Amino acid sequence: MSVTRPAAVVVLAAGEGTRMKSATPKVLHAICGRSLVGHVIAASRELSPEHLVVVVGHAREQVSAHLAELDPDLVVAVQHERRGTGHAVRAGLDELSRRGAALDGTVVVVCGDTPLLTGQTLADLAGAHAADGNAVTVLTARVPDATGYGRIVRDGATGAVTAIVEHKDATDAQRAVREINSGVFAFDARLLADALGKVRADNSQGEEYLTDVLGILREAGHRVGATVAGDHQEIVGINDRVQLAQARALLNARLLRRAMLAGATVVDPASTWVDAAVTFEPDCVIHPGTQLLGATHVAADAEVGPHSRLTDTAVGAGATVSFTVAEGARIGAGASVGPYAYLRPGTRLGERAKAGTYVEMKNAEVGEGTKVPHLSYVGDATIGAYTNIGAASVFVNYDGVHKHHTTIGSHCRTGADNMLVAPVTIGDGAYTAAGSVITRDVPAGSLAVARGQQRNIEGWVARKRPGSAAAQAAARAADEAARADGAGRGAEGEGGER
Ligand code: UD1
Ligand code: CA
Repeated sequence: MSVTRPAAVVVLAAGEGTRMKSATPKVLHAICGRSLVGHVIAASRELSPEHLVVVVGHAREQVSAHLAELDPDLVVAVQHERRGTGHAVRAGLDELSRRGAALDGTVVVVCGDTPLLTGQTLADLAGAHAADGNAVTVLTARVPDATGYGRIVRDGATGAVTAIVEHKDATDAQRAVREINSGVFAFDARLLADALGKVRADNSQGEEYLTDVLGILREAGHRVGATVAGDHQEIVGINDRVQLAQARALLNARLLRRAMLAGATVVDPASTWVDAAVTFEPDCVIHPGTQLLGATHVAADAEVGPHSRLTDTAVGAGATVSFTVAEGARIGAGASVGPYAYLRPGTRLGERAKAGTYVEMKNAEVGEGTKVPHLSYVGDATIGAYTNIGAASVFVNYDGVHKHHTTIGSHCRTGADNMLVAPVTIGDGAYTAAGSVITRDVPAGSLAVARGQQRNIEGWVARKRPGSAAAQAAARAADEAARADGAGRGAEGEGGER
């Protein structure tokens, strides 16, 4: 088999994570659109292992359900009691052998709470492990503060790794060591299985430490190696919400850096948040205060933000989207959205279409060049090309029980303040009058007027509101009109008459 392709990756995710103080299991907390364990699985996948097994324990129904959602084919092993990392790896290997896998080659072990770990670092570790012919290779890092981590103990003369000592079991001299165990290892599969059988729980935590395997293998005369991670931040494990926020910021910065190096302008990385699956094309511009989530895509020359949140939304080339919330929407090339628009799932804006200010859309297909500029709700609709929807219009799609569809043709002009009561169809080129409540279909090319006739009751204010400011204003207006009328008659040489 290939030296770079491990026989298995074992992901440890059985711990409780008490310091998160959460009803949600630690590994299910999410950063950048993926659970912690989801990030670890994604990095592990980059190794293309023959087998990938996730060890679950605490809240295992919840964690297993999440893993099945990520990938129904993932192998899940159950560690029934939390008896330490060595015991957890044993549970993973047992599950694989129960399924008939005979592991031969490299087994990589990673923790489910290290979301910043990259596939590249895992590949480097597996590569060095195979190249050096080691029985075990540990990924280490030199960190500014080693508190809580297992310390790497090296031989004073040769520099070879002799053991890993847990913080709680370490002497003061060992605690001074800044090189720590990342919790990531590459093992020879057969030697690992043998050594795990020899691990004892005779330590301060009464646990079977995976780290003891190093000393066991070394004493049996096998090669033990270490690879120092280039970036110590990659191996940070999440134990509480402070670390969760720090990891999110680091991962976000990494994702934005990748986007910028690929040609995206990010005006203010500090106030821009992106999920791992978001993609960008060159020369797009992301303005401050913007969140791009899920599988959002921003095409070339598009401008998004400021202050927008786009989830699973595709922004077409050259489109502008400002002060907008969008979910599951497709925004065409050159389209304009916002400021202050809300695009809900199923919105498909055509090329150069517009969803303007205080406009909400849902399940709406809006044709090329069609504009919905102001204060409107467009729900369950199909609108053709180059149509204009008047300000303050509502697509009345819900009768209290069922949703209904509205169809509007191309080159239509609907008046301001229309209620379009679905199901209803307006033909191509038709107009509707302002203030209309459209309940019946409008044939192509017609003007629909559907509103009460205006009636003016003259002198009503003088009769019903005598002496009021309104009545006085009306009287002054009448006087002025009479004077103007008199002056006009005077100029014509006729005597004024009342
Ligand atoms: C572990 C290492 C330590 C290392 C650190 C890096 C051991 C004994 N210690 O310490 O040297 O510096 O990680 O972050 O390995 N888990 C199980 N079942 C168990 C116990 C743990 O699945 O019975 C899982 C946890 O869910 C977690 C991982 O193993 O993903 C590490 O366990 P944790 O308790 O966090 O170990 P640390 O004390 O951090
Ligand atoms: Ca940990």
